[in-house]
Amino acid sequence: MKNTVSTFQAAKDNGEKLTMLTCYDYSTAKIIDEAGVNSILVGDSLGNVILGYEDTVSVTMEDMIHHGAAVARGAKNCLVVIDMPFMSYQTSVYDAVVNAGRLMKEGRGNAVKLEGGVSVAPQIKAITQAGIPVVGHIGLTPQSINALGGNKVQGKSEEAAKKLIEDALAVQEAGAFAIVLEAIPAKLAALITKKLHIPTIGIGAGAECDGQVLVYQDMLGMFSDYVPKFVKKFADVGSVMKQAFTEYDKEVKEGAFPAEEHTFKINDEVLDKLY
Ligand code: KIV
Repeated sequence: MKNTVSTFQAAKDNGEKLTMLTCYDYSTAKIIDEAGVNSILVGDSLGNVILGYEDTVSVTMEDMIHHGAAVARGAKNCLVVIDMPFMSYQTSVYDAVVNAGRLMKEGRGNAVKLEGGVSVAPQIKAITQAGIPVVGHIGLTPQSINALGGNKVQGKSEEAAKKLIEDALAVQEAGAFAIVLEAIPAKLAALITKKLHIPTIGIGAGAECDGQVLVYQDMLGMFSDYVPKFVKKFADVGSVMKQAFTEYDKEVKEGAFPAEEHTFKINDEVLDKLY
């Protein structure tokens, strides 16, 4: 059954955990979908894990639409959330609505996600009023890496924790149907989760969030440039891939691949006429 904003709210109301994974392509979307995961986030983390940038700042609307549409074609039951890239919504409420609309129309998402709290509440309100479901994202917000001074845990001081609570409430008040809490202390995330009636999706925010999200290359051991403390490696697919690539290289060079069963045949009479 297709996951929707109603599925998300029902999960919160019934105390059932939600799952979300990032994804950027059709084949992987199908596998995640078949695994029964509730939601796929076409994250702007594609800047890091797909495009090899050092941060998400350079990711464009065209990147998000291109990958969003590929994922949407493979996701039957997952709720597909597409990230709004840096400077596609911060500039104005008008830009936010137009760009969220493009992610829905051209990227074929079911919802959009944007980073920030009180400061982007007008954008969240306008996008939701246009009929587009919004996921908020507070705590460590990677698009603000330059302002935050690096990938640091957020909300550790009293002042910072109060600000995060205020941001979470503003995002909810503006109409978001869920909110990602990234890299904040578990007890603060638990408190925010209790205060909100919309589901919280944690990444590095402890077990008491209503759901969890991970970057799939991280949880499959496929990306080693930077592995945050909150990542659990559920499988070492990176090593399996490397071993298979090495084997392929060896077999081709030794003449072991392709073998008889991988080749097509031609009638000898036809072949004779070619000499
Ligand atoms: O872009 C992304 O992958 C994200 C997750 C880390 C939540 O925003």
